[in-house]
Amino acid sequence: MRRRMTCYLLVLLATATTGYPSRRSAVDLDATPRMTIAYNELSDVRRFRGRALNYTTLLLEDEKGILYVGARGAIFSLNSSNIADGSQREIRWEASLEKQIDCLQKGKNNKTECFNHVRLVQRLNDTHLYACGTYAFHPLCAAIDADRFALPPHLEEGKEKCPYDPARGYTGLIIDGGLYTATRYEFRSLPDIRRNLHQRPLKTEESPMHWLNDAEFVASVLVRESVRSPVGDDDKIYYFFMERAAEESASFDKSQVARVARVARVCKSDLGGKKILQRKWTSFMKARLVCYIPYYEVLKAVHSVDGGSWASTVFYATFTLSAQWRSMEASAVCQYSISELQRAFEGPYMQYQDTTRKWTLYDGEVPSPRPGSCITNRSRQDGYRSSQDLPNDVLEFVKLHPLMFEEVKPARGEPLLVKKNVLYTALAVDRAPALDGQQYDVLFMGTGDGWLHKGVVVGPAVHIVEELQVFGAPQPVESLVISKGQRSVYVGAASGVLQLPLSSCSRYGSCYDCILARDPYCAWDGEGCREVAGAADRTQLTQDVQHGREGCRNGSAQAPPVQKNRTVLRGDDVLLPCEQRSNLARAAWLVNGTVGLAAGRGHFRVGVDGLLVTDTLPEHSGDYGCYGEENGLRSPLAAYALTVLLEPPKERAAPTAPPPPSPDRQASPDMKFVYIAVIAMLGGLCLVLSAALLHVSCLQRRKGRYVLGDPRAPSVELQTVSANCLGGGREEDELSREDGCLQIIPGEAPTAASPARETPLAPPPPPPPLPAEFTNGIAALPSMLRKMNGNSYMLLQQQEEPSPSPLYNTSFAEELSKILEKRKHTQLVDKLDESSV
Ligand SMILES: *[C@@H]1O[C@H](CO)[C@@H](O)[C@H](O)[C@H]1NC(C)=O
Ligand SMILES: *[C@@H]1O[C@H](CO)[C@@H](O)[C@H](O)[C@H]1NC(C)=O
Ligand SMILES: *[C@@H]1O[C@H](CO)[C@@H](O)[C@H](O)[C@H]1NC(C)=O
Ligand SMILES: *[C@@H]1O[C@H](CO)[C@@H](O)[C@H](O)[C@H]1NC(C)=O
Ligand SMILES: *[C@@H]1O[C@H](CO)[C@@H](O)[C@H](O)[C@H]1NC(C)=O
Ligand SMILES: *[C@@H]1O[C@H](CO)[C@@H](O)[C@H](O)[C@H]1NC(C)=O
Ligand SMILES: *[C@@H]1O[C@H](CO)[C@@H](O)[C@H](O)[C@H]1NC(C)=O
Ligand SMILES: *[C@@H]1O[C@H](CO)[C@@H](O)[C@H](O)[C@H]1NC(C)=O
Repeated sequence: MRRRMTCYLLVLLATATTGYPSRRSAVDLDATPRMTIAYNELSDVRRFRGRALNYTTLLLEDEKGILYVGARGAIFSLNSSNIADGSQREIRWEASLEKQIDCLQKGKNNKTECFNHVRLVQRLNDTHLYACGTYAFHPLCAAIDADRFALPPHLEEGKEKCPYDPARGYTGLIIDGGLYTATRYEFRSLPDIRRNLHQRPLKTEESPMHWLNDAEFVASVLVRESVRSPVGDDDKIYYFFMERAAEESASFDKSQVARVARVARVCKSDLGGKKILQRKWTSFMKARLVCYIPYYEVLKAVHSVDGGSWASTVFYATFTLSAQWRSMEASAVCQYSISELQRAFEGPYMQYQDTTRKWTLYDGEVPSPRPGSCITNRSRQDGYRSSQDLPNDVLEFVKLHPLMFEEVKPARGEPLLVKKNVLYTALAVDRAPALDGQQYDVLFMGTGDGWLHKGVVVGPAVHIVEELQVFGAPQPVESLVISKGQRSVYVGAASGVLQLPLSSCSRYGSCYDCILARDPYCAWDGEGCREVAGAADRTQLTQDVQHGREGCRNGSAQAPPVQKNRTVLRGDDVLLPCEQRSNLARAAWLVNGTVGLAAGRGHFRVGVDGLLVTDTLPEHSGDYGCYGEENGLRSPLAAYALTVLLEPPKERAAPTAPPPPSPDRQASPDMKFVYIAVIAMLGGLCLVLSAALLHVSCLQRRKGRYVLGDPRAPSVELQTVSANCLGGGREEDELSREDGCLQIIPGEAPTAASPARETPLAPPPPPPPLPAEFTNGIAALPSMLRKMNGNSYMLLQQQEEPSPSPLYNTSFAEELSKILEKRKHTQLVDKLDESSV
């Protein structure tokens, strides 16, 4: 309840407060995905779902064409070329009844915890996989013959390798036969980075000072630094995690213990010490990982890419807002080079001072070989052939100085991307060659509510090419894997796994659209937008990832749209629909080929969905052209010939269809009372609905997400939530207002489709039926509602009695048009977020 109140307060505050001061402009702070593809518009998706739940652990073997999936109570082997082809193999691996009962008796949750959540699936050797599951709080592991794909008769104890708790942060890799895992294994045990399945099992040091403080692990990455190393260096494993910060500087708010993001590393050939640090890592070092402090500090996902050599390794990490801003949702993405990590690990150490109980810069003597570094040719020359040969002073130093003084800073010192109203929970990166000869990193980011964002890193920023609603039911995307071989991205979540192509270039219908998308996988070949990878002749292809502007020839780039005729009566309102498919485009209208229409001037209103001409006059007749303006390009989208008649054509006056129950269009003077009644009613309705909708949106905590129509909501055709509606009482003077509440235009009667239906009216004479060309385009409206990216609009569809004629919805169109217009110019939700961060 308190949460809900906070939500209301935030919404109310939003109308009063302006932006939060920040280092960047508001535009930079919130990247808008260029395209929005809702669940029902998504094509080319392959979905797999067995009887199990929680498809969180993905292992792709691209050469073999297999995607292994660890789920709750099962492991699946799917054909990675088409995960939905029905050829899957399955290992049922449920926790035994006895262990489940045991788990229940420990007071664990029987809906989520007392199952066997498979947390690790890795390749062990040529013939076997290795898998671990939580097994109802009794972790077990198994070496699985990949061909037979069945559990072995003998299972191994898993308590050193796999967490008990299915929700605990965990990361595990098998590298050259050794199992490197990091998590808090048991409920009471300390978090630990361990190596098992190895002649020399290792752990982190626990005393006298913890190397890890309440760590929650996010990811681990192997970097093969031994390959062509000029100094004979070792391979390293990097661990990314959150932990309680011991050092003073970490805390933004000095009164509370901060949790910070860290990166730690160990050497693969570490064998532990002989007397000191026996069976412990001798190469453990950790450093703070900074993205955009003090705002974005909660590390959520990490993925690395390299350009063929380890030295070009780049890490991408997503962060969400720190605990102070718990009520907000926002994410940032940062990029780190391996050299930046190395810089921190080669820099000065921190030391703990018992007297002051603080971590400070260590400025004393550093023993040799450098503590925490791997064994190199240099140390071998000096007689240290393995970590066991290291001198005691070095090992003592390692034990007491796990933390580096330098922080690991993101490339250019700031995030590549900041996105509000979104939690990025998973990340995968592909490095794609573009036609300009450059390599572009394409980020696939899964959100907390089942969307996938695809962005391309261009210079210092991320351009979000599109956002796809991949799961109908909101749920966090848990894991993402990219297959270059299958040109697919696999998405794991609670309800299933799915496979999407890396690109769907045919989605872009024109050359402009294809160029503006800036998708490195797509290019225009003169006829269509094609996948670059499949193209026979690359010289014919056009692409501009860098700027998203060049390459389409003027005019010839796109066939002009077919002109449509619209005929209306004088005084009518008409909507000329023109959908901007791109969220970044601005609509531009030309009348008679020359005059540009300024938004909201006189009789004309320009919205994202089209042009609304209100109270038409004969001189409004003419040719109307709609263009999308984006990134300096102008592309034609729609063309209309509008004719405004002084009186209805005679031959069309006779009714030819059964009359729908609807009041007369020609309002009599008496109708004024009706208007007032309706307006008063609508005002009230607006308030009630606003409150209700606000309530719903607060409940759902989907700040600034699309709120598509709830088909069960009965009473009203169309209603909106906007800041203006929230303000409070709106009176009868509504007639001339241009705000977000419902509004009635003088000269128009309430209609069957409007909320005014409840007013006691005598059954009015039927309206004349209208030929197709008389429609004013309003029927097209609902399909546009999904475009309302990042704002709270709501379409409540009335189930019974669809509108008899689209013409009678004009006031709603008016309404919508204004709101859409407002969205373009004021971005209500932006204010909300900035004010509240
Ligand atoms: C597993 O899925 C269920 C249902 O979707 C969800 O409530 C639960 O949190 C998931 N558990 C884990 C560990 O992801
Ligand atoms: C996956 O399916 C493709 C096409 O159906 C087939 O050629 C291939 O052999 C299958 N791969 C595996 C591993 O079953
Ligand atoms: C889980 O426990 C609750 C209460 O202890 C019980 O009502 C419910 O039936 C149990 N569910 C399952 C699936 O065992
Ligand atoms: C792979 O590991 C399994 C389990 O340890 C073992 O039985 C099998 O012989 C190994 N296979 C090879 C090819 O080494
Ligand atoms: C480092 O030592 C290895 C083996 O001892 C040797 O193969 C390699 O050439 C050496 N590298 C350099 C740069 O000396
Ligand atoms: C395309 O049009 C723009 C402005 O409309 C003009 O500056 C440019 O020269 C034209 N390009 C070509 C190739 O005609
Ligand atoms: C629109 O009207 C013009 C003449 O008024 C006619 O030539 C044209 O065919 C009509 N277009 C359509 C699509 O009906
Ligand atoms: C467009 O041109 C026609 C005739 O050329 C003119 O009657 C009409 O008023 C013009 N429309 C506008 C909106 O200027």
